[in-house]
Amino acid sequence: MLFDTHTHLDAEQFDEDREEVIARALEQGVTQMINIGFNRETIPTTMKLAESYDFIYAAVGWHPQDAITMQPGDLEWIEKLCAHEKVVAIGEIGLDYYWDTSPKDVQHRVFREQIRLAKRLNMPIVIHDRDAHEDVVRILREEHAEECGGVMHCFSGSWEIAKQCLDLGFYISFGGPLTFKNARVPKEVLANVPNDRFLIETDSPYLTPHPYRGKRNETGYVRLVAEAAAEIKGLNLEEVAKITMKNAQACFRLG
Ligand code: NI
Repeated sequence: MLFDTHTHLDAEQFDEDREEVIARALEQGVTQMINIGFNRETIPTTMKLAESYDFIYAAVGWHPQDAITMQPGDLEWIEKLCAHEKVVAIGEIGLDYYWDTSPKDVQHRVFREQIRLAKRLNMPIVIHDRDAHEDVVRILREEHAEECGGVMHCFSGSWEIAKQCLDLGFYISFGGPLTFKNARVPKEVLANVPNDRFLIETDSPYLTPHPYRGKRNETGYVRLVAEAAAEIKGLNLEEVAKITMKNAQACFRLG
């Protein structure tokens, strides 16, 4: 039984065959998933999925790329949705210096506001960090994000950065890049992360694992991530499934 802790099943890439994609995921043993709603368009579609399938949970938040579009009232909207029984986290939130579609100061403000909300509501946060490792860790520390905790989604930083996130009580999540032959850093990071602190995810339809790289990613492929993790950790697939299920349930405070 696998838990895909980060997917975007509401993405338009699945408009033609969403039902089949979900059925294939179940066939692969993916029994739990968290769909991420991260802006004005994807929060409602995420909520609809979470309300339609009992095995799909929701995370809602404002993505750093969309920080500039956040309006007065949106934070209250997220707060209201957090009371919904299927909403398990605030996210994805964080910083993105790669696309740079929102000014840094706006990204920082929106990130900080959502950490404060998460602490007030006692909700874990899902962190998006692209090319912004130092600032993400600094803000997490300054805002005392250890009080709400959460996960570093599709972590791409070094072990040095991972260690600081672990010290703040965060889980580290790994996706498709773990399956790439030349992905030395994520493999090295996972090898060092304690067994009770890592999660697996797809981030589908993006970050497709080997051997489907270049094609659309889907939630069932989290099995490939689990297999890669098993090899790195010297465990078998069942052990990784069990460990990551337990870790995800602890991270998102389920059951
Ligand atoms: Ni995502």
